[in-house]
Amino acid sequence: MKDKVTIQTLRKYKQIGQKICMVTAYDATFARILDDGGADALLVGDSLGMVIQGQDSTLPVTMDQMVYHTQAVRRGTRRALVVADLPYLSYHTSEDEAVRNAGRLIAEGGAGAVKLEGGVEFENVIRRCVRASIPVMGHIGLMPQSMNVMGGFVVQGRDDAAAEKILADALAVERAGAFSVVLEGVPMELAKVISQRLTIPTIGIGAGLDCDGQVLVCYDLLGMNPDFKPKFVKHYAQHYTGIKEAAEGYFREVRAREFPGDEHSFHAKKPIRLVGEEGPEPEKLGAIYGAPV
Ligand code: KIV
Repeated sequence: MKDKVTIQTLRKYKQIGQKICMVTAYDATFARILDDGGADALLVGDSLGMVIQGQDSTLPVTMDQMVYHTQAVRRGTRRALVVADLPYLSYHTSEDEAVRNAGRLIAEGGAGAVKLEGGVEFENVIRRCVRASIPVMGHIGLMPQSMNVMGGFVVQGRDDAAAEKILADALAVERAGAFSVVLEGVPMELAKVISQRLTIPTIGIGAGLDCDGQVLVCYDLLGMNPDFKPKFVKHYAQHYTGIKEAAEGYFREVRAREFPGDEHSFHAKKPIRLVGEEGPEPEKLGAIYGAPV
C-alpha cells in the first residue's frame, strides 16, 4: 500500500520541485479511479453544483451536500489527500460558524483539509480554522463564489493594481497558516511570481505552468461535456462520446431483443410449474425464487 498523501507531503513536493496533481471528485467510484491513477489530492469541489446538480453556479451548494459528497469520496480514496470545499455562506457570517462548518467536513465528511475562497478579507477566518487543527487550502484570483461581484467568470489580476491585490491575498493566506493555495484564472506571469514568493505550494487552474501543481474538474479533463471547452481546459479523453455510444449499444440490443443473452440470464434448477398451471405438481416455490447463481 502506497503512503498516504498529507499536507506535509505536498509541502515536500514543492521543496523538491515535484508537481502536485489535484483533480476534483464527487463520488466513491470516480475517487477510486482517480486515486488509482495517481492523484495526489482529490478536491470535493463545490463545482459539483454545476457538473453534478446542473446549476448555473456554485452558489446554491449547501453544507449538507458537501458533507455527503465528501463522505463518498473519502470511501473511494486510499492514497490521495481529500480536500473539501466550504460552500458559499458557510464561512462568511462569522469565524465561529466557519470553524464549525470546516470541522464538519473533517469530522463528518472525513476530509483531510478544507478549501475556502478569499484572501486578505478572510485571513482571520483561515487563522481560526488552522487554530482548530483544520488544514486550510486557500483559493484566490478568480473566485467562483464571488462571480456576482467579479462580473462573471473573468480572468483576474491583468493590470498592476489588480495583480498587487492578488499578491497581497496570497501573502495573507500564507500568513494565516494555510498549507497551500489555489490560483484560479490569473495571468501566468503573476502566478509565477506568487509561486516563487510563497513557501506554501500553489495549485493552478487557468494560471499557467509555473504553479507548484495543477487542478482540473474531472468531468472537464475526461471530456464529459463537448460543449464546455474554455481556454484553460484540456480534454484528455472523449468520454461524452464513449458513454453515449455505450448507452446506444445497450438500447439497440434491448430493442432488438439481443440483450440479455443466455449468458446474462439465470436458469431454474428444474422445470418450473406454478400453482394452478397444468402439469406436474410444483416443487417448493423456493426453488423458483432461490438465490441467483
Ligand atoms: O470547485 C472546484 O472544483 C474548484 C476548482 C475548480 C479549483 O474550486
